Amino acid sequence: MMSKVITISQQKGGTGKTTLAVHLALSFIKHYNFKVGIIDTDPQGSLGKWYMVRSENNISDENLTFKTASLWGAQYESKNLKKDHDIIIIDTPPKIESDARPSIEASDLVLIPMTPSHVDFWATEPIIDIAKKANKKIMIQINRGNQRSKLISKTNEYIAGINVPATNTIIGHRQIYAASMGEGRTAIEKQKKGNAAEEIKKVSDQILTELQ
Ligand SMILES: Nc1ncnc2c1ncn2[C@@H]1O[C@H](COP(=O)(O)OP(=O)(O)OP(=O)(O)O)[C@@H](O)[C@H]1O
Ligand SMILES: [Mg+2]
Repeated sequence: MMSKVITISQQKGGTGKTTLAVHLALSFIKHYNFKVGIIDTDPQGSLGKWYMVRSENNISDENLTFKTASLWGAQYESKNLKKDHDIIIIDTPPKIESDARPSIEASDLVLIPMTPSHVDFWATEPIIDIAKKANKKIMIQINRGNQRSKLISKTNEYIAGINVPATNTIIGHRQIYAASMGEGRTAIEKQKKGNAAEEIKKVSDQILTELQ
């Protein structure tokens, strides 16, 4: 497969962009033996903090490269990483409606995490517009969902209504996502088998299929 770029974008804060970025990165490494580059374009630097804690804990990452960039710089940085990485994941800050374009232009797929709430639905539309105008593949990822909740069917109705594909997997609200990241790790490194590990694998499988 040729090297591909995934930009994770959503102007609403705290929907799981950074969580998805690291979990997908580690899933591609673990299950596909890919070389993965992750780019933090968020001045908050959450991805960088995670990577720093990870380094301090001496976790070896032969197949993971970390970079920081401005939203504009992401294009240059991802092009560079494409030379010797299979997948590049760009994590973006919230509230980027006006300057989301360069990081979206750099991508092959725009992944939009969304929690099952109307506030998130409304916040998602500007990014979808930008990604559609740029002719990019788009996928919505429901995060912090509860399969049995009534809001999930509302969310699915909403997604069907805007005619944007979503992954077939709902990522659940699970302590292990937050807890593992605080240690510079991921849920899939903390548990060999388990709900988190399984759902992340499904999402990464589907994203790869979409990118092929
Ligand atoms: N599926 C989940 N289950 C439990 N906690 C989660 C889940 N996804 C994310 N979180 C937690 O929610 C918070 C926000 O997640 P995260 O930082 O990934 O969102 P973000 O979209 O990157 O936020 P920001 O917009 O500020 O960059 C974090 O504390 C994270 O650990
Ligand atoms: Mg973030």
